[in-house]
Amino acid sequence: MDTNEAVNNETMPESDETPETAEVDTPAAPDSDEPVIKIRNLSKIYRDFWGRPKVQALNSLSLDVQKGEVFGLLGPNGSGKTTTMKLLLGLLFPSGGDITILGETATNVEKNERIGYLPEESYLYRFLNAGETLDFYGRLFNMSKADRRERVDRYIEMVGLTHARHRQLKEYSKGMTRRIGLAQALINDPDLVLLDEPTTGLDPLGTRDMKDLILKLRDDGKTVVMCSHLLADVQDVCDRIAILYEGELKQLGRVEDLLTEQGRTRLMTSRLDDAAMAEIREVIERHGASVETIDHPTSTLEELFLRTVEESRERPGRRFVPEDAPASDEEPAANESE
Ligand SMILES: Nc1ncnc2c1ncn2[C@@H]1O[C@H](COP(=O)(O)OP(=O)(O)OP(=O)(O)O)[C@@H](O)[C@H]1O
Ligand SMILES: [Mg+2]
Repeated sequence: MDTNEAVNNETMPESDETPETAEVDTPAAPDSDEPVIKIRNLSKIYRDFWGRPKVQALNSLSLDVQKGEVFGLLGPNGSGKTTTMKLLLGLLFPSGGDITILGETATNVEKNERIGYLPEESYLYRFLNAGETLDFYGRLFNMSKADRRERVDRYIEMVGLTHARHRQLKEYSKGMTRRIGLAQALINDPDLVLLDEPTTGLDPLGTRDMKDLILKLRDDGKTVVMCSHLLADVQDVCDRIAILYEGELKQLGRVEDLLTEQGRTRLMTSRLDDAAMAEIREVIERHGASVETIDHPTSTLEELFLRTVEESRERPGRRFVPEDAPASDEEPAANESE
């Protein structure tokens, strides 16, 4: 964690600053009493060495995160996502506005015992292995030896690192480092998990695993806030999203509400012949609507990739051979029907 930032760049909350009050129409979120996170008119100005304003990283941000939801913070590079996370953790002081998180003000760092944080880049001890790393963080939370042993095993398995648990982290690939970072964030069994770009550096299988893990955390009753600019990942797991642009909130709502095009209808049927299509077109036009596109649905590249890997596992040695490739006696052809 970059604690220097709090020392070098920050000033205490500035009372002379009057943030503009942008009224945000927060859509209703799932039933619950108090939001887990309540942000009101939050502003952050990074200052230079002499205290002069350098960057307005957040401007009057207001939003709530409810218990048990997966909330996505989206936005281009430099839009204020990481800044928001650090403010939630109390690693930075706000320049204006308020944050209540798990019933406490964000600057009360004791509440961080109930929060798990996966930073953009994990700073882990390179010479420890996975088990030792998690055990070390378990000790920081004063967990008993028995608890530590149980949780270390559980989380190493959960993030898929059982096979590499005795290897030093300096030998880990980027994706493996991300996985151990997640296990570290979860070791204190937190109520709220903050994930900064959780799928960065993961291959599509790792990405799928990470998304499944996030959904599992939600099933276990935890609240998750993740930030990302990988839109497909956010769309797959988040209940609600906020889109930030240059430190300002531009969109907020349930993913399906934001993405549903209310003015259009799409029908999907089994394959139809030309005569049936002509008839249907006639009916649609009779009702005053028009047919905009007719095509066959495509699957996503992610689905194709995962299917290919799955099939490769099930049928080792089967490979794709282009039709014009010379025949080989040694290897079986993948595209041959069996
Ligand atoms: N320690 C700092 N000192 C000065 N400016 C900073 C500091 N940290 C971030 N900023 C600035 O604040 C703005 C928001 O940065 P932030 O890291 O929150 O963006 P982000 O949305 O997380 O971006 P990314 O997608 O690249 O991770 C940027 O203009 C950035 O340059
Ligand atoms: Mg960031």
